[in-house]
Amino acid sequence: MSLLITNIGLLVNVREQNQLLSGAALADLPCMKNAYLIIEDGKIKAYGSSLSLSTVNNQFPIINANGAYILPCWCDSHTHLVFAASREEEFVDKIKGLSYADIAVKGGGILNSARKLNAMSEDELFELALQRLNEVIKTGTGAIEIKSGYGLTLEGELKMLRIIQRLKQVSSIPVKASFLGAHAYPPEYKNDHKVYIKLIIDEMLPNIGKENLADFIDVFCEQGFFSANEMKYICEAGMKYGLRPKLHVNQLNSIGGIEAAIELNALSVDHLETMTDEEITMLSITGTIASLLPTAAYFLRMQYPPARKLIGSNCAVALASDYNPGSSPSGNMNTVVSMSCIQMRMLPEEAINAATMNGAYAMQLENEVGSITVGKKANLIFTKQIHSLAYLPYAFGSNLIDKVMINGEFIDMH
Ligand code: NIG
Ligand code: FE
Repeated sequence: MSLLITNIGLLVNVREQNQLLSGAALADLPCMKNAYLIIEDGKIKAYGSSLSLSTVNNQFPIINANGAYILPCWCDSHTHLVFAASREEEFVDKIKGLSYADIAVKGGGILNSARKLNAMSEDELFELALQRLNEVIKTGTGAIEIKSGYGLTLEGELKMLRIIQRLKQVSSIPVKASFLGAHAYPPEYKNDHKVYIKLIIDEMLPNIGKENLADFIDVFCEQGFFSANEMKYICEAGMKYGLRPKLHVNQLNSIGGIEAAIELNALSVDHLETMTDEEITMLSITGTIASLLPTAAYFLRMQYPPARKLIGSNCAVALASDYNPGSSPSGNMNTVVSMSCIQMRMLPEEAINAATMNGAYAMQLENEVGSITVGKKANLIFTKQIHSLAYLPYAFGSNLIDKVMINGEFIDMH
């Protein structure tokens, strides 16, 4: 089945070849004005300037884009979208001035989500996660990574990963799974870290390996959670099952996570609100991607990650939503892109590249999504009438997406 899309005002992120974009290359967003696009069997077959359209065989059904801009869908490389319940009561407590520690004493935080997740059936959790996934696809997400980490028991973690596996099977977009058993210490292991780590390594990982339930391994490396050494030990065990590390580091404190992540050859280091200059330099000479999650910094009223310094030091920066009930109860990548420009001073071109091409790399999906490239999936955002690309992040409160196409078919936007 083929399809010809004509009259595209601007075809965005058109690339003959994949490239992880570091430093200055991030600002280079190749676009084609007045373009056409041919889609065959759900994939991009060809594109070009409308002026040369007479030379293409236009026997195909035609869609007139009426001047809309077309972008590759967002590639959201960091989410926790399997969860049982929202946590707006903690949100209100924080407004009233309660600290993270006060909230933890009241039974809040990650452990609150873990209790609720363990009490809910797999089917019910799956339905809730599927609804969230369908909602973010409507906001332009065309590939996504989803983590476990709200189980924190053998059964709970396997339940989460099986849900993600079911999402992979039913979803129209590519889904990647990360095992985050090391998200927090369950209360019973509070003073017995070694025993919980043993449970992760001796029981969770072998089962995950047997059922092939994960693509990556993640650890929350933070004071009061997992140390850099614990992270290394857990990741080394995960790597024996083929799981490459993609890690939560330097959100609240710098405790050696960057150095350890580099030694582990992590695919990405995520968050980075708290980075030293030495850590930025260290990161810049590696292939490890810096994944920034500005909506989490916004929601927690934290300083934003130093995007300009990272780009200025030649790091590869990706953007993701961190969709989760505690620190970013939104999976809307349009907000992420806007916030990156407004608060982290990323140029619109940089933010779009970081949320598409580099996001695809941060999930090892660069051969399937992330740019307008022959052979990639036709997962596309059609904008409403806009007059410049910068208008997208600028008009931060407007929904500027007219239609979303997944595998060459428009999805139902209602
Ligand atoms: O990425 N920082 C660790 N984990 C999540 C938050 C989890 C939660 O609060 O439920 C994050 O921000
Ligand atoms: Fe996260």
